[in-house]
Amino acid sequence: MVTCSAPGKMILFGEHAVVFGKSALALAINLRITSSVRSANQYSVNGHPMKKRHHMYISAALDEAWGGPPINIDTSSEIPSGSGLGSSAAVTVSCVGAMMAHRGGIEPEKIALKSFLVENKVQGRASPTDTSTSTHGQGIIVSPERLDNFLWRIEQGQRSWNIHHCAVPKLHFVVGYTGIHASTGPLVAGVKKLADSSSEAVRAIDRIGEVVLEGVDAMAASDKKRLGHLMDENHMLLNSLEVGHPELDKLVEACRPCSYGAKLTGAGGGGSMIALTDDPHAVAKAIQEAGGEPIIVDVGVEGIRLEDGGMSRKR
Ligand code: MEV
Repeated sequence: MVTCSAPGKMILFGEHAVVFGKSALALAINLRITSSVRSANQYSVNGHPMKKRHHMYISAALDEAWGGPPINIDTSSEIPSGSGLGSSAAVTVSCVGAMMAHRGGIEPEKIALKSFLVENKVQGRASPTDTSTSTHGQGIIVSPERLDNFLWRIEQGQRSWNIHHCAVPKLHFVVGYTGIHASTGPLVAGVKKLADSSSEAVRAIDRIGEVVLEGVDAMAASDKKRLGHLMDENHMLLNSLEVGHPELDKLVEACRPCSYGAKLTGAGGGGSMIALTDDPHAVAKAIQEAGGEPIIVDVGVEGIRLEDGGMSRKR
């Protein structure tokens, strides 16, 4: 048996715009999904026969990264599904990693590419942000140009993304989960439809791309005030792309008095928001009082990891 775990993520800046080839900045968080793979007589997931309809990401991961004799896959998750915290990326990355490790060793670049292809297939249209963050861990900068600290490049049709390591300073974030399950695919498709018909939406996407670049500088300078202002602006721009939700606005507003800034994170439409603060407990209380589920998270954690220690990580 081979077991791998992979972290969830929070997108600090750039969700949705990154699907159009703009930049993004994302951080791995200390909520993980663990997947174990072992030889079996038939394909099964958590003890049940595998069904494409129920196990979309795992079944697509098998198509992309396995193609061998039947295996059983067991998963366990600390990440609520549809919460905007990267559960589909983490299940995909941990499964693809475990399948590769079963065959001899994990190679982060290959795992990131295959996992992106899985998400793109299941979601209909995706960027490699979530899957590359879950693979590399720590922080990543996604950019149309190749920068310093380059890790790998992912191409899909006309679109391409360069993935870079981003050093993460000590920052305190609190997640506010609305409890509202949101599917990424339809939200991504909705933004594409809006961008095809509205120049205002195109301008919002362009501005998000600029916010990301300013955010990367603010991150390098550990400038929390600037980061907070940019988070607030990014939230407003995402609302203009119609991926907000009144519950997200409620949690964001509740956090403002005790945080540098707050925004929705991930696909939106429900899911989660994040706030940057020096006082995580005050923010957690504000989120709870506003009806959300607070999660105080650590950021910049390790990416894909073998849990049974028996295999090497190829470079
Ligand atoms: C979802 O976590 C992030 C989106 O930008 C979609 C993607 O990048 O594939 C909304």
